[in-house]
Amino acid sequence: MSAPKPKLPNIDLYTAGLSKIRKVKDPIKLSANESALGPSPKVLDIFKSNVDLKKYPDGSNETLKKVISKKFNLNIDQIIIGAGSDEIISLACQSFLSKNDEVIVAEQSFLMYRIYSQLNGAVVKFSKNVDDKFSVDETIKLVSTKTKIVFIANPNNPTGTYIDSEQLIRLRNNLPEHILLMVDDAYSEYVTNNDYKSGLEIFPNTNNTIICRTFSKIFGLANLRIGWGFGPKEIIEVINLFRPPFNISGIAEKAGCAALEDDFWIKRNIEHNEKWKEILFKKIKEKNIFTNKPVANFFLLNFDFAKYNSEEAFKIFMERKILLRNMHSYNIKNSLRLTIGNEEENKKFLDVLEEFF
Ligand SMILES: Cc1ncc(COP(=O)(O)O)c(C=O)c1O
Repeated sequence: MSAPKPKLPNIDLYTAGLSKIRKVKDPIKLSANESALGPSPKVLDIFKSNVDLKKYPDGSNETLKKVISKKFNLNIDQIIIGAGSDEIISLACQSFLSKNDEVIVAEQSFLMYRIYSQLNGAVVKFSKNVDDKFSVDETIKLVSTKTKIVFIANPNNPTGTYIDSEQLIRLRNNLPEHILLMVDDAYSEYVTNNDYKSGLEIFPNTNNTIICRTFSKIFGLANLRIGWGFGPKEIIEVINLFRPPFNISGIAEKAGCAALEDDFWIKRNIEHNEKWKEILFKKIKEKNIFTNKPVANFFLLNFDFAKYNSEEAFKIFMERKILLRNMHSYNIKNSLRLTIGNEEENKKFLDVLEEFF
């Protein structure tokens, strides 16, 4: 008897940034764009409260949806909660894609768009970035009658760049209406540039656009796995059919509510990020390491003109217990990604930079 044969998709799986170094206790992890300051103290209080662990959570996540709806003035029926925004991306792909459908993603963009698309049988077309930015024109060129979804992360991971609100509106206006546009707002809370607007602000009312948001970045809850999506009621209802009934835990839901309500903590994170993105940008540039001016909480560093190449730099930092993200799976040459850490972590990074570069 032969063993059952699973579907075998021919794709590269996601490889996360390193989080451990052998024999090193508590390395400084600046490789995964996690929050510099961690969760709000109000979220930490939740873990001290009594939670009835034997009971299933509320499968409809009503409490968190209400808090989101109130904070952003959104219709509750248009919100869906996921185990990370990652799950929202996966569910949207499951709901919309069939074999041989086409999806368009930027060549240098978050890997899960292509992975979930391919897992659902779709063919991925890669649009070229122009000046390291998502290009509306390059994307439109790839549209065909088979295109089902266009993904954009704004700001984009890993390039750290963004397109302004006019460009994002132009993208939607130039895509045929039947194409689903997914705007990933994962880092939107960090952006302070005047010409930027998040997907949620630009598209509160369309019949063909989904926005996804996460609690993993500015809210400091990556470990809890919470994200959410917003879109037309009819589409959210369909995506909900694919959602596992208890996809996020009760404690995650409570934590999400507390995180969203703590405006003081969000502001503090933005201020910390603003301060350190300037300091780090200046110092990095001084060392002939090229980087785009960041708008989110990370930098993409290119080492073409620096004293060491990216492999050497990776090792130098690792030997000093600092983990950066290599860009192999993104196929970006001679580059590393650096996340803005807390004060102590950033200072250690700068010390090593000064010593070696
Ligand atoms: C652009 C982008 N979208 C989504 C995610 C996934 O976030 P989550 O932890 O909510 O699944 C990431 C994580 O790094 C990201 O960079």
